[in-house]
Amino acid sequence: MKRGDRYRRSDSWKDLYRKKTPEEIELELGMELLHGPILFYNELVADHCMNPRNVGEIAGADGYAHLGDPTCGDWMRLWIKVDANRITDIKFQSTGCAGAIATSSMTTILAMGKTIEETKRITGEDVIAALGGIPGRNGDCSLSGVSALREAIGDYEQKKSHLSS
Ligand code: FES
Repeated sequence: MKRGDRYRRSDSWKDLYRKKTPEEIELELGMELLHGPILFYNELVADHCMNPRNVGEIAGADGYAHLGDPTCGDWMRLWIKVDANRITDIKFQSTGCAGAIATSSMTTILAMGKTIEETKRITGEDVIAALGGIPGRNGDCSLSGVSALREAIGDYEQKKSHLSS
């Protein structure tokens, strides 16, 4: 098929405005359309994805994490501010998918105001439960927020131990 051929096939301009079936489009293009699984996110997950909470960065943070996911190429950064052993501020940035962004957003909400020990006990299941569940295919992505949080706490504890030694 020559470039532009598919736009010249029909004699009727009205064809441009007719809704076509996927089979007709495949026939017209001479190729199969991509069919993939459709993930259904609940309203809370969609809201956290479209309006993620605690996005940004913290200047002079007490703990910092930067994780990459080699399977998809996305990355995640997370900053924490700690005062009297409590998370007083937490921010994140992510290039990840809907599941990664929504669960990271919820992770920051669960961690805010908690002690370091309480924060360490937050699991991926806690985050998913707080969101009312997410589609199964997002299993690994949904752990990025919790993984980054643990790494940021590790960074904070390491800095603290250097200061006290
Ligand atoms: S696909 Fe990369 S974080 Fe989900």
